[in-house]
Amino acid sequence: MSDKPTILVTRKLPEAVEARLSRDYDARLNPDDILYSKDELIERTSGVQGVLPCHTEQFTTDVIGRLPEEVKIIANFSVGVDHVDLMASKDKGIVVTNTPDVLSDATAEIAILLMLGAARRAGEGEALVRTQAWKDWNPSFMVGTQITGKRFGIVGMGRVGQVVADRARCFGMEIHYHNRSRLTPELEKGATYHETLEDMLPVCQILSLNCPNTPDTVGLLNAERIARLPDGAIVINTARGVVVDDEALIEALQSGKLAAAGLDVFNNEPDIHPKYRDLKNTFLMPHIGSATTETRDAMGFRALDNLDAFFKGEEPGDRVA
Ligand code: DGY
Repeated sequence: MSDKPTILVTRKLPEAVEARLSRDYDARLNPDDILYSKDELIERTSGVQGVLPCHTEQFTTDVIGRLPEEVKIIANFSVGVDHVDLMASKDKGIVVTNTPDVLSDATAEIAILLMLGAARRAGEGEALVRTQAWKDWNPSFMVGTQITGKRFGIVGMGRVGQVVADRARCFGMEIHYHNRSRLTPELEKGATYHETLEDMLPVCQILSLNCPNTPDTVGLLNAERIARLPDGAIVINTARGVVVDDEALIEALQSGKLAAAGLDVFNNEPDIHPKYRDLKNTFLMPHIGSATTETRDAMGFRALDNLDAFFKGEEPGDRVA
C-alpha cells in the first residue's frame, strides 16, 4: 500500500499535470473524463485525503456534509470557487484552494476577443462566409462599432480586470473601473475609479464584467443598470453567468438599447438561455477563458503546489478557506 496521500482528480487534466500527480500522489484519475453525479462524486471520495476538482463539480453544503472525514483539502483547478460552499468547508475543517494569477492573461485575451467579436459582428460575419450566404460588398455591409478610443468600463479590477485594462489601453481606450476598493496609483495606471457602479455606467461605451460570483454580484447587470449605460453600448462577460440578468440583457439586445454582447459565461451553462443563440448581435463562446495549453498546465501545477504545501504541513499559497 502506498504511503502517498490519495487524491481524487475529478476531470481529465493536461498530461504533464497528471504525470506529476501520479508521481507524487496515489492519484485517482478520470481518464474518460466522465462528469460525476453528486452521488458518484461522494462515493469516489471514500479513502481519499484530497480532491482536485474543476468548477464543474458542485461542492454544496449537502455534498460537503456527506464527504468522508478523511477528506482534508479541496484543491481547485480554477480561480473561481463559487462551486464550493466555503463556509461549510471551513466548518468541516476542509482547506480550500484556487489557482489565481495563472489564468489572467488567457482570460483577458478572451475578453478582448469578445469585445472585438461583438463590436465588429464577427459571429454574423463568420456565419455568412461559412454558409455561403455572403454575396456582395457595399459601404453599409456589416458595419459595426469601432472600439479604438472608446470609454471602457471594468466591473471588478482584480487580477483579470487589470490585465484586460492593459490590453484595452493598446486600443487607445479610456479606462474606467468600479471595484470594492480603489487600486494604488501604480496599479490604476491613470484609470478613473468610480466608487459606485451607478456612477460609472453612463460613461461605459463598452462594459466588461470581471467580478467574482458573490452574493453582492448575483444579478448585478439588471434592467435598471443596463438603462444607465449609453445607447449602443456593448457588454462583455468573462466572469460568471450569474452576474447577468439574462432576461434584461436579452431585452436590451432586442430593443437595440445595447449594440451587442460578447459572452463566454452563462447562467446554467451549457444549457444557456436559448434566445442568446437567436440574436444576431451576440458573440458567444463556451466558457473558454482559461483554455490555452500554457494556462491549463499552469492551473494544474498551481493546484499541485497547493496540495504539496498542504501535505508537507505548510500553508497552501492560494488558500481561500
Ligand atoms: C475558473 O478558473 O474559474 C474558470 O472559470 C474555469 O473554471
